[in-house]
Amino acid sequence: MTRLENHPILGKLNRKKTINFTFDNQEISGMENEPIAAALLANGIRTLRLHEETAKPRGIYCNIGHCFECRVTVNGIQGKRACLTPIKEGMVVQSGKHLPSPVRDWRVNHV
Ligand code: FES
Repeated sequence: MTRLENHPILGKLNRKKTINFTFDNQEISGMENEPIAAALLANGIRTLRLHEETAKPRGIYCNIGHCFECRVTVNGIQGKRACLTPIKEGMVVQSGKHLPSPVRDWRVNHV
């Protein structure tokens, strides 16, 4: 598969070696310093999170850091943009999850 060489925001990617990281506890390999989203896409993974309310799958959209559709949790830090975050050896990446809705749950019990 063709790999990303130049990113409109990150510039020319300095990739020298293959590294390993995890995505939702699955071992993934990628090229060091390529964006998380690019490494996942190269491994056939398009869904980066589920919409918090509807649970519909979400993936990269703008790929330049504007839309936040690609947000994931990286080493325990939520809201990292997968399209802008370079992967590093041993990085732990988790997809965004469908969250319980206090409003929806309240309506079920009160309306
Ligand atoms: S895809 Fe839009 S911010 Fe990452």
